[in-house]
Amino acid sequence: MAKQRQASGRKKADDGRSRRSVSMADTIEELDGILANAGPAEADNEDYWRAVRAQFPYNGSIHYTNNGTIGILPHMVLQAQITVLKETEIQDGDTGGVDYPAPHEAHEKLAALINADPSEVAITRNSTESMNIIALGLDLNPEDEILTTTHEHYGGWSCWQHRHAQFGNPIRKLDLYDPPEDEDEIVRLFEEAIRPETRVLSFCHVTCTTAWRLPVKKICAMARERGLITVVDGAQSVGMIGVDVKDLGGDFYVSSTHKWLFTPKGTGLLYVDDAAQDKIGLGYYTGGGRPTARRFENNASQSHAPLVGFAVAVDFHNAIGTCLVEDRGAAMAKWLKTRLSDIPGVRVWTPMNRALSASMVSFSIAGMTSSDVGTPLRERYRVHSRGLYEGGYHGARISCAMHNSYEEMERVAGAVEEIADNRC
Ligand SMILES: Cc1ncc(COP(=O)(O)O)c(C=O)c1O
Repeated sequence: MAKQRQASGRKKADDGRSRRSVSMADTIEELDGILANAGPAEADNEDYWRAVRAQFPYNGSIHYTNNGTIGILPHMVLQAQITVLKETEIQDGDTGGVDYPAPHEAHEKLAALINADPSEVAITRNSTESMNIIALGLDLNPEDEILTTTHEHYGGWSCWQHRHAQFGNPIRKLDLYDPPEDEDEIVRLFEEAIRPETRVLSFCHVTCTTAWRLPVKKICAMARERGLITVVDGAQSVGMIGVDVKDLGGDFYVSSTHKWLFTPKGTGLLYVDDAAQDKIGLGYYTGGGRPTARRFENNASQSHAPLVGFAVAVDFHNAIGTCLVEDRGAAMAKWLKTRLSDIPGVRVWTPMNRALSASMVSFSIAGMTSSDVGTPLRERYRVHSRGLYEGGYHGARISCAMHNSYEEMERVAGAVEEIADNRC
């Protein structure tokens, strides 16, 4: 900590010329100071969020509203990786006076963030890898069925197709098109779809299509009563909304932390509940002793840079706080949903209900394909969105991340208005 204090003092003296470098923190202590100077930590304090935005070196050449695909890194997380790489590869030993976390702290900090034990947490490359580890490793009989939904991302679905091809397990998709805007009715849809042969429920926390937030806790409780295994694809959740894996009560939970938690690209989460460790037989084996989630990491010789960056990313997130990040995203998404709903020809798929939505907004424009919407958004209006494809939806998805502003959302809404107006 003393080292960090020294670092902040020196950095301010050295970099005093440029406003941007003054406002980009190297340490959490500096960040705390910058945020404290920006006024109350509240979802509608724009000064506060401008200070948050200033932590991202992203040059803004295009409005980046696609955190749902991949995040952009805060300076602190980027710098941590650069420093560790230099230390390793050049042995220059110069950390700029910053005391970075040790690589093993990544697991501890991530586990604390989601209320898991560090032994239940593996740092994989992304959700797709974590889903593959589960789908290929689960001890199932060939006739055991996997029940999933019509809203899965390829990364949470192709692994089950592979399982089917390798071991014959049948897969069925629960029709979740236009699900009711009522948590209990959604649970009932899952419940009614279960058959005697169903053994696994695999579904998203926040869907990549319509950006629905599913009632994970209720679905898992219902599944547990029936002795089913639950696999939750939380690619879009950790860092966007509060995730307490014990409270949610699933067996397995995966996430692409590189999206909303701003961890280095190529890092993600596999959570294996302690009680579910013996439900997976196959996988890497990189250490002896009692099986934990860590056996699914290839933690032999590897770079420390992403792990150090990961630990810094969790600290960065915590300096702002999950509740505040979630509130900000929900408020901005609500604003955008309201604005888009008023545009003739636009259909917003994401519910207004906060319990059933989060920080992304999906919409269609009547008669237009995903590229009809996404191409002009990107090329004419410089807005980076994500097209809707899975489940046969057409349209675009906008992410409301902590670095996004209402000016950007106004630009999105104005662009959609013009695109909808000009359709033939
Ligand atoms: C719900 C869902 N699952 C899985 C994935 C795949 O993520 P990754 O490419 O990080 O593995 C995504 C990506 O957008 C997603 O939205």
